[in-house]
Amino acid sequence: MREFILKANKAITSGDINLKDLPGSCGRLDLVCRCVSSAFFLSHDLRRDTIFYSIHCGDPNPPVTLKFVGSELKRVSPDERSIALFIKKALEPEHLEIWRESTPGIYHAKKDLREIVLEKVKERRKIYLLHREGVPFENVIGPENYNHIKYKRGFVFILGDHYGLTKEDEKFLEEINVEKISISPLELHANHCIDIVHNILDKLEHFNNIV
Ligand SMILES: C[S@@+](CC[C@H](N)C(=O)[O-])C[C@H]1O[C@@H](n2cnc3c(N)ncnc32)[C@H](O)[C@@H]1O
Repeated sequence: MREFILKANKAITSGDINLKDLPGSCGRLDLVCRCVSSAFFLSHDLRRDTIFYSIHCGDPNPPVTLKFVGSELKRVSPDERSIALFIKKALEPEHLEIWRESTPGIYHAKKDLREIVLEKVKERRKIYLLHREGVPFENVIGPENYNHIKYKRGFVFILGDHYGLTKEDEKFLEEINVEKISISPLELHANHCIDIVHNILDKLEHFNNIV
């Protein structure tokens, strides 16, 4: 299982979405849509072993978290407009502390980054923060040290948006010993990080005969 958690600092928290202005009035919802596309879409197929969370912290009602479950998704297609329409549906209802499904495989709840990460700690996942200044990815998860048993319960990768994570977020992650790992010396877009992480894990799993 692969899970990605995106902190979307300005992403809109109501269904009042103008599909013609995802970057502006919707608080970089274009970026969230591209991350959903990278998390799930293969050529003519879906990654069913992936879960993606987007934590929306923009106006008017932050925080709201959306959860996309690859094994349950139906009718979503890879383009930003289609994904934005499903996000709109998920943001329209009232958000409670518990997950509620809006369309197949897409859930919404009134939860913040800390709550989502603590859920993953409880589920005993291996959690990493993707960060340019972290330890090189291959030193932590690479051909030399890939350990199927260790990673059996799945990976969780936390990412920031164009603003990155806040100092408080990073402090919290440090306190619970979430390791920072880097996939490049360059600062990349969040959706490209998801593509790269999938690619590294696809190859590691393939050559370890795990798939
Ligand atoms: C556009 S970057 C964020 C830029 C933001 N100005 C900052 O300083 O954090 C979006 C996210 O992608 C991830 N990221 C970007 N470059 C990375 C790299 N080289 N290695 C690992 N993760 C990276 C980080 O999680 C980052 O928060």
